[in-house]
Amino acid sequence: MQVDLLIRHAAQVVTPRGRGPARGAAMGRLELIPDGAVAVRDGRIVAVGSTAAVEASISEAAEVFEARGQTVIPGLVDPHTHLVWAGDRVAEFEMRLKGATYLEILQAGGGILSTVRATRAASMEQLIAETRGRLDRMLLHGTTTAEAKTGYGLEWETERRLLDVLHQLNGLHPLDLVPTFLGAHAVPEEYRADPEAYVGRLIEEMLPAVAALRYPTDGPWHPPWADGRAAWFCDVFCERGAFDLAQTRRILEAARRLGFGLKVHADEFEPALGATPLAVSMGAISVDHLVSTPPEHLEILARSETIGVVLPGTPFGLGTGHYAPGRELIDRGGALALATDLNPGTSWCESMPMMMALATRYIKLTPAEALTAATLNAACAIGLGHEIGSLEPGKQADIVLVDAPDYRHLAYRYGINLVRTVIKRGRVVVRDGALQIPGG
Ligand code: NIG
Ligand code: FE
Repeated sequence: MQVDLLIRHAAQVVTPRGRGPARGAAMGRLELIPDGAVAVRDGRIVAVGSTAAVEASISEAAEVFEARGQTVIPGLVDPHTHLVWAGDRVAEFEMRLKGATYLEILQAGGGILSTVRATRAASMEQLIAETRGRLDRMLLHGTTTAEAKTGYGLEWETERRLLDVLHQLNGLHPLDLVPTFLGAHAVPEEYRADPEAYVGRLIEEMLPAVAALRYPTDGPWHPPWADGRAAWFCDVFCERGAFDLAQTRRILEAARRLGFGLKVHADEFEPALGATPLAVSMGAISVDHLVSTPPEHLEILARSETIGVVLPGTPFGLGTGHYAPGRELIDRGGALALATDLNPGTSWCESMPMMMALATRYIKLTPAEALTAATLNAACAIGLGHEIGSLEPGKQADIVLVDAPDYRHLAYRYGINLVRTVIKRGRVVVRDGALQIPGG
């Protein structure tokens, strides 16, 4: 067999296995191949094994990577980001350091609403330019696929522009984006006196409009699995000062009827509003945050098919010191994924290895569990476990070479970038730590 790309003599090739999420103790079981190799053809993985075994199965390789001293892992997947916004909230960062809380700032018309003002005022070009820089940094840190939410428009025209930006970036940039509609991110200023009217608009007008919006699927840029939908998932921020449980239920019910997969921001601050059992009962693909989830709700989640996504960059970014009980979810047999929550308010961080570093210290994941949470389980949390998230023949060739002889270094070391080479759909997009993409 002739191949396009052969990575050989890696100190380790390390990967979870499967198409569905690893649950409970299985999250810690990785395949670890010393002196490993991976072969790629037509953008897909065709062989994974020891260098001797893989070389025996191929006749010729167009490009060979000598990976001595390096570790080969699947491309990292970031299943929860608020990728598209304009501006920053650095002044708020300093206010919080002096004692103001996140929800106080939101209630005073700042927080998410201040980013909404900046985003509404931004042109398409500005949004693309600012977001593109973030995509570059994600790719440099090993992320090859990410979920991306709208939610800084909160009116049809701007939400639509954010969906357009995501669609265009999918074509301009090698990182694949899975779009989520988060019109229920906050109640916009103009509906402050009548939040129910905004919920009505979301249900009657915006959700049906997003569901009807299709982008052409024939371009090479469009991921075939998206089936042309402008947004795959619908998410709701269920929180005091955002949307209550009854509103969350109505929005999710409408979204489900319109064919969206469901996601929920649950238990980020206020304890036990009930968003976790609600999301599970509605068949959500993931519930995200889970910082204040009580044990009885964790148990319901652990027994379900819904994946728990924890975002340790958020308590770190806010400096609260309260991290999600992800260890407990795994010990109860649940499936856990990790994400950055990349956003200007709580967690402006493009790095999944940083999330692995935080999750090992503060959520007590083992480095193996953290890798599973950042690859296979993250892929499953966005419905792509059959395509990405592990190094196995047949899967898309999204591969990362780490400049360390043992995969555990990725969680062990922090504040520097160990990612050396990134391969996306079989193409080298980061080489020797530098972008290799047009305009990059
Ligand atoms: O997941 N909680 C709501 N959304 C984001 C924060 C967004 C923002 O502050 O701009 C989060 O933490
Ligand atoms: Fe979020």
